[in-house]
Amino acid sequence: MVSYKELGLVNTVEMFKKAMAGQYAIPAYNFNNMEQLQAIVLGCAESDSPFILQVSSGARKYANQTMLRYMAQGAVEMLKETGSNLKFALHLDHGDTFELCKSCIETGFSSVMIDGSSHSFEDNMKLTKKVVEYAHQYDVTVEGELGVLAGIEDDVVAETSTYTRPEEVEEFVKETNVDSLAISIGTSHGANKFKPEQCTRNEDGVLVPPPLRFDILEEIEKRIPGFSIVLHGSSSVVPEYVNMINNNGGNLKNAVGIPAEQLRKAAKSSVCKVNIDSDGRLAMTAFIRKVHTESPAEFDPRKYLGPAREELRKMIIDKNINVLGSANKGKEIFG
Ligand code: G3H
Ligand code: 13P
Ligand code: ZN
Repeated sequence: MVSYKELGLVNTVEMFKKAMAGQYAIPAYNFNNMEQLQAIVLGCAESDSPFILQVSSGARKYANQTMLRYMAQGAVEMLKETGSNLKFALHLDHGDTFELCKSCIETGFSSVMIDGSSHSFEDNMKLTKKVVEYAHQYDVTVEGELGVLAGIEDDVVAETSTYTRPEEVEEFVKETNVDSLAISIGTSHGANKFKPEQCTRNEDGVLVPPPLRFDILEEIEKRIPGFSIVLHGSSSVVPEYVNMINNNGGNLKNAVGIPAEQLRKAAKSSVCKVNIDSDGRLAMTAFIRKVHTESPAEFDPRKYLGPAREELRKMIIDKNINVLGSANKGKEIFG
């Protein structure tokens, strides 16, 4: 058993408390390789933004769980080298079993999500409570979920979303003692968050997605005031990246995400954590494709992964400043 405390990581308690009071949200960026990790560390250090590094079970399999733990330790050291006082949480994204959550806690994660949203309300509560009881012994924080997002998570594809039912949240939070709650109010995983028929078109013919259900969020806030809420599926599917991919041999059709201003509004509410994965993937793919188009003879991975990493770093700074409002908040938490 290795404790996250020995690795120099933190759980999410203090970050969420400050984010709630300061009306911003903590970005949770997914990673599964070195370039993504470097970009997240450098981007957050430069913008002095508290952050959460998150790992899906698929990412854990891809990178190897031992390698991942050492990568996170490497990130702690790299962050210190920048001169930053930031500390980050290492979080399991979409944990689906007690055993997976336990294994992550035993290998140094400071926070886990138990996603029981595919189960009945009762079974979701039972599973979440079991994970919380185990995790809290080690000061590890736990995120639960109520409601189902549309889109792709690992190998699971949900065709349609089921919004969170506000009447369920009080009992869920009280019974499970969970630290934060992911809700479904219209966000969705992946780069194709909405079908064209769910959208309208603006005067330039660009697809405009339906607005988030802030009414449901408000109802939830009334029932569990001051409780930390999490938004998954919060990439904006940045059109510049989608166009760049398509102009360089890609074929992304009807890719549409959550507009930045909706996320900014959410970040000012009790939403304390916002999950972003797809935008980072799009940024890197856009620049890798561009290098391949412009320099077809290039075969040194550093020559295309380097520009991709640099773009991801810039994107992260932009998100922290302009979307989450988390930039320059690090010193309030970590001095
Ligand atoms: O919500 C899912 C995350 O974007 C992780 O995706 O399971 O393909 O690693 P992944
Ligand atoms: P996006 O696919 O919108 O980036 O969502 C990521 C996510 O929710 C990870 O859990
Ligand atoms: Zn998610």
